[in-house]
Amino acid sequence: MTEKFLENYKLEGESLPIKTYPDPVLTKVAEEVTVFDQELQTLCKNMLYTMYKAPGIGLAAPQIGVSKRIFVIDVDYERDETEEDSGEYLLSEFNPRIFINPTFKEKVGETTYQEGCLSLPGIYEDIKRFESIVVEYNDVNGELKTMDADGLLSICIQHENDHLDGIVMIDRMSKLKKSFFKKKLIKAKKEASHNL
Ligand code: NI
Repeated sequence: MTEKFLENYKLEGESLPIKTYPDPVLTKVAEEVTVFDQELQTLCKNMLYTMYKAPGIGLAAPQIGVSKRIFVIDVDYERDETEEDSGEYLLSEFNPRIFINPTFKEKVGETTYQEGCLSLPGIYEDIKRFESIVVEYNDVNGELKTMDADGLLSICIQHENDHLDGIVMIDRMSKLKKSFFKKKLIKAKKEASHNL
């Protein structure tokens, strides 16, 4: 059931607008998912579609204005331009993953990686994370699953899970860097609102 659902995710979907900082939904603690129905499947499908289109390797529900404990990830897919400067891309090697109501059972070690975020456009900074994690979560049917993750997958899960707790990347930076980027993002958003 889950595999079939995931096989079809890329064939259909709706691209949802991505909320950018300082949208208040990004600083809210998201709510647990209790109903596993068709509506949830459609939401997850649209989130994957939005993520691939953005393009990104992870997307959390608050980023599309839905304050629920859901995120989608694909750290494996390839994105190749069909022809040089065509602006058209061919995506392949999909490995979509859906996490609902995730909780960390283990967090070990330390690693640093230059992260970006679709809700914080133009910011790429080194962020400290746990090196490997064990995460428990519900799949799209509500079944409880456990996953061991390290490397980019572990980093991505931690980044997306932060979104569910109302935490964005700049909250993980020094005070000085945080206030610098916060001002920059607010200014960029104000300027963008003048573009008709
Ligand atoms: Ni993000």
